[in-house]
Amino acid sequence: MRIEATIGDITTQAVDAVVNAANSSLLGGGGVDGAIHRAAGPVLLQECRALRASVLPGGLPVGRAVATGAGNLRARWVIHTVGPNAHSGQTDPALLAACFTESLRVAEEVGAASVAFPAVSGGVYGWAMSDVARIAVAAVSGFTGRQVELVRFVLFSPAAHQEFAALLD
Ligand code: APR
Repeated sequence: MRIEATIGDITTQAVDAVVNAANSSLLGGGGVDGAIHRAAGPVLLQECRALRASVLPGGLPVGRAVATGAGNLRARWVIHTVGPNAHSGQTDPALLAACFTESLRVAEEVGAASVAFPAVSGGVYGWAMSDVARIAVAAVSGFTGRQVELVRFVLFSPAAHQEFAALLD
């Protein structure tokens, strides 16, 4: 499995699955969540609402992941995951690592060969980018799957990119 890091907008990535840094409601928000819903179009929110009305009545717990279609995105799937929120005292690295491993497990289930990740929890949820990079790269590097051939970390600033690139050189 190839692992790379790039600076860019995750909504424009030509990959099979784009990972969304969602919140437990799955009903949208700001940051990556807002960008993905804007780019995907209203069908994405409709699919998320359907999940809440069926298999996820209480929302998506922290560290879990679930796939939907991707609406107008170039990707085929959006894999929603909920990062730990440092501002709420959720500082367990295992919870953040689970966002990456669970998203890859879901990617394997749907048959995605390429997956783009944002820096989950590195924005609104207040985790230090250096910690996100260390935990994310370790979690993805330790993943053993047969479908996923490419993981791309898509960072939104040179500083964030540098944290990931330094671990991937
Ligand atoms: N492409 C790639 N990265 C992006 C994009 C984008 N279009 N937009 C923002 N980012 C970056 C941010 O700069 C940050 O480094 O993604 C990282 C994650 O930031 P957030 O989107 O704030 O995600 P998170 O910290 O996990 O907080 C999730 O914020 O938007 C709400 O609904 C969301 O409640 C949830 C919370």
